[in-house]
Amino acid sequence: MFILIFALYSLSFTHVIGSSHNCTGTSTLITFDDLPTITVSTLISNGYFGLSWSNAYYDAASRNVPGSGYYTALSSGSYITLNGFGNPMAIASTTPNTFNISSFIAAAAWNDNLNLAISGKRNGTTVYQQTVTLQVTNSTWVSLNWTYIDTVTFTTSGGTVNSLFAGTYSGSQFAMDDLCVDINSFYTSTTSVYGTSTTRSGSGGGGNGDGDGGDGGDGLDLELELELGKKPKATITIGGLPVAVFAGTMAAVVVALIIFAFLLWCFISSKCCTQKPHCRGCGGGGC
Ligand SMILES: *[C@@H]1O[C@H](CO)[C@@H](O)[C@H](O)[C@H]1NC(C)=O
Ligand SMILES: *[C@@H]1O[C@H](CO)[C@@H](O)[C@H](O)[C@H]1NC(C)=O
Ligand SMILES: *[C@@H]1O[C@H](CO)[C@@H](O)[C@H](O)[C@H]1NC(C)=O
Ligand SMILES: *[C@@H]1O[C@H](CO)[C@@H](O)[C@H](O)[C@H]1NC(C)=O
Ligand SMILES: *[C@@H]1O[C@H](CO)[C@@H](O)[C@H](O)[C@H]1NC(C)=O
Repeated sequence: MFILIFALYSLSFTHVIGSSHNCTGTSTLITFDDLPTITVSTLISNGYFGLSWSNAYYDAASRNVPGSGYYTALSSGSYITLNGFGNPMAIASTTPNTFNISSFIAAAAWNDNLNLAISGKRNGTTVYQQTVTLQVTNSTWVSLNWTYIDTVTFTTSGGTVNSLFAGTYSGSQFAMDDLCVDINSFYTSTTSVYGTSTTRSGSGGGGNGDGDGGDGGDGLDLELELELGKKPKATITIGGLPVAVFAGTMAAVVVALIIFAFLLWCFISSKCCTQKPHCRGCGGGGC
């Protein structure tokens, strides 16, 4: 019983960590869900996370056709990013800043076997290249692990329209979500173009100087987001986990400890022996 509860506890813990696709350490997970609320596909403004975005639109998966890759790629919240009109899309830092790109989730919007060519440049020279084949109804976790680049370009081509959309929709758009990048050398969360100010307190690890406590896994983090024209939103995390998850796992641990103590008491006091269906009790040494 104890082992079972502990296994369940460990399982739920792993699940929470895994949901960020190993985007840990100094990396930042960009979910596109902190962008302003929209009702129509909109270009991401330059400056979002300190980067410049070319032909990168964001949209709510739910505004799109069910079954399309916009639904498939959605891995968090409600927004995904797409390459407008199926044309190349790029993300760049301002010279001489460089960034690392770890991974992202992707799906082809309409075409199965859509080719996605990704290239990483440093100071005008292509230093990385990779091509992946995307599907409409299966998302792909693309792991790049590229370091010190200043521009990453996404170019799509080919593929054939998934039978769900034959005669209705087509195009070489792809959808992206949960982009994991390391931008810590030039981006601090207080510089958002949307007037978001983030205050953190607590013993987070790896903070660099005053104001920013860093995104460490330990301690209590209180995050306050003030966005123009929106209700303030507060998120409290403990050890990097939302408070509800933390409380839940703590409750599981306490329950497990109580059960363990009970079993120990049974064992020591011999109060619990096997109850047979035809016996009243078995404290007196059998029936
Ligand atoms: C996270 O990393 C581990 C090994 O480091 C790997 O086994 C696992 O598949 C990764 N998870 C994801 C979601 O990429
Ligand atoms: C970038 O390339 C130019 C020449 O094209 C060179 O002068 C400059 O030093 C390079 N910058 C870096 C940071 O490597
Ligand atoms: C896509 O996912 C379905 C199940 O959802 C699976 O049967 C199929 O094999 C997957 N295709 C690829 C190419 O992974
Ligand atoms: C990422 O690349 C670095 C070297 O460039 C390597 O040391 C590291 O193990 C790689 N990490 C993953 C998860 O592939
Ligand atoms: C990028 O990766 C390199 C090598 O792992 C690391 O030294 C560096 O701190 C990372 N972050 C940035 C922003 O370059």
